[in-house]
Amino acid sequence: MSKTKLIAPSLLSADFLHLEDEIEAVIDAGCDMLHLDIMDGHFVPNLTFGPFIVEQIKKVSKVPLDVHLMIEEPDLWIERYIEAGADYLGVHFEADVHLNRTLSRIKELKAKPCVVINPSTGPESLEYVLDIVDMVLVMSVNPGFGGQKFIESSIRKIEWLSQFREKSGLDYLIEVDGGVNLDNIGRLSKAGANVFVAGSAIFSTDDYKKTIAEMKERI
Ligand code: DX5
Ligand code: ZN
Repeated sequence: MSKTKLIAPSLLSADFLHLEDEIEAVIDAGCDMLHLDIMDGHFVPNLTFGPFIVEQIKKVSKVPLDVHLMIEEPDLWIERYIEAGADYLGVHFEADVHLNRTLSRIKELKAKPCVVINPSTGPESLEYVLDIVDMVLVMSVNPGFGGQKFIESSIRKIEWLSQFREKSGLDYLIEVDGGVNLDNIGRLSKAGANVFVAGSAIFSTDDYKKTIAEMKERI
């Protein structure tokens, strides 16, 4: 089991009128990465922001950027997001017919490829790309919105990915995103997850430092 354990606040739940303050606050509070949700209004029924905002965030972030693309035809956009400063770049299995090519291209462009699966997709679909990626993201809610309820079957997927990693000798990180909170984070860690994305569970609290410290105690 990989010992890496990282907390990645999802800025989707941050106060966008004070984004720079929010970023500084979660970094001061001890987060390890910032998770940025890019939505196009087609792949998911919501819209957020594009590479221009990622570029601005990069200027003020002292931690790596984990960019989660929830967009159709992600292959047309990867260069722009890497130029903007994405360290990890996540592409949905369901959005890309030529996943091998897209993930390899992300690597060529010197970013870290991450492959993402929706709640309805099984992890075994990823078997033939797991040797290319630095991270696998298991969506534990249907993507599009913060504050949704955690889907339990995600635990089994994390266990499968963790067992496959052991068997194959690969070293990708396993990330989980959606409905992650203080009550389930310990179980997710035990199942083999390494990177914990949390939006509402961090930004809805008054004391980010206390919340992140409590999360870290449980993983
Ligand atoms: C959902 C996004 C998540 C979202 C998580 O489509 O990918 O990153 O912000 O929010 P919470 O932690 O509130 O479920
Ligand atoms: Zn996300």
